[in-house]
Amino acid sequence: MQGLIEFKSVTKTYGAGSSAVHAFGPVSLDIAEGEFISFLGPSGCGKSTLMLMIAGLLEASAGTIRLAGKEVHAPQTDIGIMFQDNTLVPWRTVRGNIELQLEMRGIPVEQHAEHISSLLQSVHLADFADRYPFELSGGMQQRAAFCQAMVHRPKIVLLDEPLGKLDAMTREHIRADLQKLWMQTRSTVIFVTHSIEEAVQLSTKVAVITPRPGKVETVIDIDLPFPRDLKVKGSSAFIRHVREIQEIFHGYGVI
Ligand SMILES: Nc1ncnc2c1ncn2[C@@H]1O[C@H](COP(=O)(O)OP(=O)(O)OP(=O)(O)O)[C@@H](O)[C@H]1O
Ligand SMILES: [Mg+2]
Repeated sequence: MQGLIEFKSVTKTYGAGSSAVHAFGPVSLDIAEGEFISFLGPSGCGKSTLMLMIAGLLEASAGTIRLAGKEVHAPQTDIGIMFQDNTLVPWRTVRGNIELQLEMRGIPVEQHAEHISSLLQSVHLADFADRYPFELSGGMQQRAAFCQAMVHRPKIVLLDEPLGKLDAMTREHIRADLQKLWMQTRSTVIFVTHSIEEAVQLSTKVAVITPRPGKVETVIDIDLPFPRDLKVKGSSAFIRHVREIQEIFHGYGVI
C-alpha cells in the first residue's frame, strides 16, 4: 500500500566540496495515514533537516518526498508544524495567535471560534485564551503552539522536539494532552525527540536513526494500547521496547 508520506532515497548534503556536510540519508520509508511515528536519533543526525524537507522548506540533494502522492518542491501550507522554539507573536493573545494561522491561509476565523475553544480546552488553556504569550509559562506557550499547529485540521503534523525545553513534569502532562489530541484527530504525526521513553509512549512506530549521516535502519512497531498512561509505562512490554532501542543506540556508540 502507498503511504501518505513517502521517502525514496532521500539524501541531504549541505554545502559542497571539502566543506560539504552529508547530513542525512539515503532514507526510503513509507508512512501510512494515521500513524504517530517518532524519529529518534542523536543530535546532528539530520532530524530537523528531514522535517524541513517534508515541509518543503529545504530541497533534498537527492531522492524524492511525496505527500499524498505529490512530490514536495515548495512550502506546504496545509500541514501543521511546530518546532522547539514556538512561533507565537508577542502582540497577539493566545486566541489571536491561533487565529493568525487561519488568517494566513485565508480561512474565515468566525467559523472556527468554537473549534479554537475546544482545542484550548483540550490542552487546558481555556482560561488563558485572552492572555498574551508573556503572561504564560513555557509549558503553556507550547500548549498554545500545539493549537496553532492543529487549528486548520491538518492531515499531517510535524513536531520537531516540541517538548525539548520543558521540565520533566510539564513534559509528562503535555505528552498526555498531545496523545489525547492525536487520538481525537488521528492526523498523521511525525514527532522528533531525543527521549526513548517519550517516543515509545506516544508512537505507533519508532524510526531509530543512526548518527550522521542519519539513516533509518530500524522501525519498531509499538503495539501497546492507547491511551498510554503511567500504568502502561510500567508494563513489561513498554520496558522491553525501551531496552531494545537503548541497545540499538548502544551498538551505535551513542549511549
Ligand atoms: N543550514 C545548514 N548549513 C550547513 N550545515 C547544516 C545546516 N543545518 C544543519 N546542518 C548540519 O547538518 C547536520 C544535521 O543537522 P540537523 O539540525 O538536521 O540535526 P538534528 O538531528 O535535528 O540535531 P538536534 O537533535 O541537535 O536538533 C549537522 O551536522 C548540522 O551541522
Ligand atoms: Mg533538530
